[in-house]
Amino acid sequence: MDSLIIEGGSRLRGSLRVNGSKNAALPLMAAALLADGPSLFKDVPNLSDIQHQINLLRELGCVVERQADGDLLINVTDEKNSHARYDLVRKMRASICVLGPLLAKRGYARVSMPGGCAIGDRPVDIHLRGLEALGAHIELDGGDIIVKADKLVGAEIFLGGNFGSTVLGTANVMSAAALAKGTTMIECAACEPEIVDVANYLNAMGAKITGAGTPRIVIEGVPTLHGTSHTVIPDRIEAGTFMVAAAITNGEVHIDNCRLDHLMAAVDKLRNIGVIVDKDKGGCTVASVRRLEASTFTTQPHPGFPTDLQAQFMALLSIADGNSVVTEKIFPDRFLHVAELARLGARLHKEGSTVIIQGQKRLTGAPVMASDLRASAALVLAALAAKGTTTVMRVYHIDRGYERIENRLNAIGATIKRVNQEELDL
Ligand code: EPZ
Repeated sequence: MDSLIIEGGSRLRGSLRVNGSKNAALPLMAAALLADGPSLFKDVPNLSDIQHQINLLRELGCVVERQADGDLLINVTDEKNSHARYDLVRKMRASICVLGPLLAKRGYARVSMPGGCAIGDRPVDIHLRGLEALGAHIELDGGDIIVKADKLVGAEIFLGGNFGSTVLGTANVMSAAALAKGTTMIECAACEPEIVDVANYLNAMGAKITGAGTPRIVIEGVPTLHGTSHTVIPDRIEAGTFMVAAAITNGEVHIDNCRLDHLMAAVDKLRNIGVIVDKDKGGCTVASVRRLEASTFTTQPHPGFPTDLQAQFMALLSIADGNSVVTEKIFPDRFLHVAELARLGARLHKEGSTVIIQGQKRLTGAPVMASDLRASAALVLAALAAKGTTTVMRVYHIDRGYERIENRLNAIGATIKRVNQEELDL
């Protein structure tokens, strides 16, 4: 297991490019199962989560090839196997997004229940409720979800739960409804940009979807869908993470391939904290030249503040001037980074799903343990600002969502070294 050894204290300066969105690419790749013929995706990031999805699609009868220019070709050549095995799904719970496309295209799917993860329970009850409304017969057997349907029929579906909408649940139901007979209306649909990206891809395949990006999506079913080419939207969470990297080091960084309209809540919060965010051609420049101001935020479904930036902003507010309050409403247990940030000197007090942050003048480097994707990003960010050396262990978590993060941060002035276990033990 690799670790990152980070020397803190450098102000980041320079320019970097945001990759294509992991959280758009995963449901997009799943939606390719609906097509008669190949699809070609541009800007699919090279991440371990993407590789898991590639391995799963190959088991489900797809030819999946990375082209010389990096584009990803997906072509369904064999529809015999529709079983997404536990051994694959347990490595990447977002594999659940193959459920809707397999059901719609093949009339059958067996997908392992994803189970929980470090940020909390990851139920799929709303996914199943939506597919059942379209006429699917659902049973659970040996930890697997088995869905069957001769022909899906359009329906009016409420996809809200106690924590609001569901992103991958919306992707699953929208994808399945694309091939259903008749019209489907999804109420309380997820409004995330990744859902808009999947809807745009489905429409380019011949689907008839309107309202994506709003809480009400209408899908007029069509008999077949064809392959097409599609460019994945920029990764707004990666962009937000790099914005925090510029702010937490009092640096100045140009971020290319960044859609500020996908990140308005986070940009609003950065400006509230005293960070300069200037839109410029193809992206933005983020700078911070003074002490940061304390602030408060609560995570919400899009367009509210994204839960996937909660940990990163907590790291930023750990060195702000004054007390801040962070409340997590999407995954109430998403706080494994709190104890590790405290090891770096952050003063955090957790009460249920709220954390009070007493801003400190400075953090101090220490060995810390990554626990999940965004928590590990927060530890790297805090280490960039901390005095001295920080070792972040188990960085396989960070490799799930950030492509060689150390190379990209070192290119703008960071001092990060990736070491394997043997080197670390020396
Ligand atoms: C997507 O997960 C993202 N993952 C997550 O990003 C992100 O945190 C999450 O959306 C929320 O924005 C991908 O897109 C691959 P949800 P998803 O269904 O779709 C509850 C990252 O760091 N819920 O929108 O699985 C659920 O427990 C990852 O990149 C139900 O109760 O999340 C949660 O509290 C982490 N029943 C809330 O809804 C269901 O059937 C939102 O979950 C489904 C969800």
